[in-house]
Amino acid sequence: MMKALVIEKTDGKPGQVYYPLKQVDLPKPSIRPGEVLVKILAAALNHREVFIRQHLYPGINFETPLGADGVGIVVETSSPDLEHQWKGKKVILTPGRGWESSEDGPEGKYAIVGGTVGVSHGTLQEYVALPASELEEAPGHLSIPEAAAIPLAGLTAWRATFTKGKLRAGDNVLITGIGGGVALFALQFAVAAGATVFVTSGSEEKIARAKELGAADGVNYKKEDWSKQLKGLLPKNRP
Ligand SMILES: NC(=O)c1ccc[n+]([C@@H]2O[C@H](COP(=O)([O-])OP(=O)(O)OC[C@H]3O[C@@H](n4cnc5c(N)ncnc54)[C@H](OP(=O)(O)O)[C@@H]3O)[C@@H](O)[C@H]2O)c1
Repeated sequence: MMKALVIEKTDGKPGQVYYPLKQVDLPKPSIRPGEVLVKILAAALNHREVFIRQHLYPGINFETPLGADGVGIVVETSSPDLEHQWKGKKVILTPGRGWESSEDGPEGKYAIVGGTVGVSHGTLQEYVALPASELEEAPGHLSIPEAAAIPLAGLTAWRATFTKGKLRAGDNVLITGIGGGVALFALQFAVAAGATVFVTSGSEEKIARAKELGAADGVNYKKEDWSKQLKGLLPKNRP
């Protein structure tokens, strides 16, 4: 058996409930052909878990362990080839399912791992069985908790910044709510790509921290004239 975290059903309408967390014992998963067994070493949280507990997320499921992000070590494989490639490696688990071939977006029925009906596991469980194609080797320069924090927010920010936003060096970009997990990844990606980044936040400290991370400047969205202030910060010679 293994330990896992799920939400417990209580009475209440979506947005008004906050389902408690419950630790449960589940059978340790067994692997099928093409799969590997990963022992989870660290899992990260996203705002998604809060939305799930408030019943504000689509397709929530009280039986499926929570958690979309995780890092683990491959402890069992289903073939000699997979054993050679993966056994003993530290890996990042991809947070989505049904999206393999196109960078532009899901090509089939798409689901995010953890707490929902689309996938039978989450990362808030001790062991996960999953197809080897859903693994990436964890970068050696990151600690295990650092690597665990990357998959969902990092991928979301990457797609927003480059796949959808088509950001290029020299662009001026606005990232709203810079205290957010996705926003912080987008900031670091955009700065690394050579863009000039402006931010908004409800907190002066978070704007100051964003500037330490490379933002050009920022405004507080709680101020009534924030959009005017922002316009005043933009370079005058922009196209
Ligand atoms: N996490 C993911 O991987 C993921 C994946 C897909 C979609 N999303 C979606 O992306 C959004 C952000 O997710 P997250 O995980 O980054 O959430 P988060 O870490 O909770 O960040 C939310 C941020 O939104 C900002 N905010 C709140 N009120 C605002 C307002 N009135 N105007 C501007 N900004 C405001 C706040 O910024 P300040 O603290 O700076 O004030 C807050 O820190 C959510 O809608 C989420 O559903 C997230």
